[in-house]
Amino acid sequence: MLVAPSILSADFGKLNEEIKAICDGGCDLVHVDVMDGHFVPNMTIGPVVVSSVAKVATKGLDVHLMVEDNNFFIDLFAPLKPEYISFHIESEKHPHRVIQKLRALGIKPAIVLNPHTPPSAIEYLIEDLDMVLLMSVNPGFGGQKFISNVIERAKELKALINKRNPNCLIEVDGGVNDKNIHDLKEAGVDVVVAGSFVYGADSYGQAIKSLQV
Ligand code: DX5
Ligand code: ZN
Repeated sequence: MLVAPSILSADFGKLNEEIKAICDGGCDLVHVDVMDGHFVPNMTIGPVVVSSVAKVATKGLDVHLMVEDNNFFIDLFAPLKPEYISFHIESEKHPHRVIQKLRALGIKPAIVLNPHTPPSAIEYLIEDLDMVLLMSVNPGFGGQKFISNVIERAKELKALINKRNPNCLIEVDGGVNDKNIHDLKEAGVDVVVAGSFVYGADSYGQAIKSLQV
């Protein structure tokens, strides 16, 4: 299991140290939550702050867009060369076009599904994706309770991935901890995002390791 700590739960007063600590602690990706105050009822960080994150991070950036205008935000973040950019299917009229744009920019494309969106909604996009992110909370805030229907959705998605593009990864975001990690592993999940579980721990490194099952 790959682990992508979400910096949403980091102490922004000492962001550089907080990024360095998860990278030194053995994380696999650095998850960056971008919110516009429209698609979700919260706002986070833009390219100015993320550019200083990118300078310190020794692992790839996994940028999770929770915005209405995906093209606008992709143009802002592309110069920072993130490894992945994921966007919500619920906010995009032309998802295939956005995937092609990300590919052309050399960024791995990923699509995010809210807790109510069935995996079948993206069946015909899977062959063009490097990752699908299943939300296990309603997007907008860290520290929420895990919505367990994600286990069933991950199994359904795994079957579609096996049929359409076995190289596509499954990522789960929201309420992940060392209790639900085993069910996620068994359901075929490849990457987990963890915000409050990692940044709320005494040792970030130990928390990360406990999820790398
Ligand atoms: C929620 C974000 C998550 C969040 C996860 O909108 O997408 O990445 O930071 O935080 P935890 O792990 O605390 O649920
Ligand atoms: Zn996220």
